Amino acid sequence: MASTETRYDTLRVTQAELVADAIVLARFESPTAAPLPPWEPGSHIEIVLPSGLVRHYSLCSDPDDPSHYEIAVLREPAGRGGSAEFHDGVSVGSDISVGLPRNNFTLEPATEYLFIAGGVGITPMLPMIRRADATGTPWRLVYGGRTRASMAFLDSVVALGSDRVSVFADDVEGRPNFAAEMGRLGAGAAVYACGPTPMLDLLTELHITQGVAAELHIERFVGESAGDITGETFEVVATRSGVSVTVGTDESILTALRPLVSHIPFSCEDGYCGTCETAVIEGTVDHRDSYLDDDERAAGDTMMICVSRCTGSRLVLDL
Ligand code: FES
Repeated sequence: MASTETRYDTLRVTQAELVADAIVLARFESPTAAPLPPWEPGSHIEIVLPSGLVRHYSLCSDPDDPSHYEIAVLREPAGRGGSAEFHDGVSVGSDISVGLPRNNFTLEPATEYLFIAGGVGITPMLPMIRRADATGTPWRLVYGGRTRASMAFLDSVVALGSDRVSVFADDVEGRPNFAAEMGRLGAGAAVYACGPTPMLDLLTELHITQGVAAELHIERFVGESAGDITGETFEVVATRSGVSVTVGTDESILTALRPLVSHIPFSCEDGYCGTCETAVIEGTVDHRDSYLDDDERAAGDTMMICVSRCTGSRLVLDL
């Protein structure tokens, strides 16, 4: 079962600068200059903002350099306030609680890689490209964005090899031909993609309909199950808190329990970040998250209470 505990360290922001339209690059270091916990390409960190909001961001620095972490944060005007708070309230000198790196987007060995990044989805690709270079594995990058000004790290990724990097700005080149890009790959190759949901949905569809031989690995910005939390009512028991409540047809377990149980950790409320992962003591889970893998779902001993429900009438949770 994956751990439900998150360890936080207080790290200091030592650099914060705009690196593209609405994208700030922030560097975190230990105030004591201690080396930071190790991580692998594809990892993200959890950040507790001054207001208490929790957000997750992919690491884009060098995993072989333990002196700092770097993340890139896109200001999302239509978001739920986390990115705006980061842009407006976090600056050089800020001390921020940062969780240990976690990795749900592991770079598996392959004969060659096709990296596909949409917008700020470039961030997890940077350490992956470094790792591919270090292992001598051939790679290509397809990087799309609205405009070149909105695309972070553009010059540095092109400098990695213009023959291996294809840039598609919507206002100049238009959209990439993903089917052709993936169709060139043979068995043993792998596609790693991160970006907006429509792009990832298209890649997933093409991967199936075009019979692409390469494996497809994607990381979503938002949960696949966003909004789909409805179902039959059931009873949920929080054993350690000694309370029970009926979860209504259109509310989540998290929503139902929060007035009764203090300090339930949560962040995305869309089933993709893993923050609200809770151990299941009794009952059968209707998994609706995009965080657990198939084996973890089948085991049924843990669940994301922000979106997942119960297939029966009663769930007992370790809360
Ligand atoms: S709060 Fe992110 S998975 Fe539940």
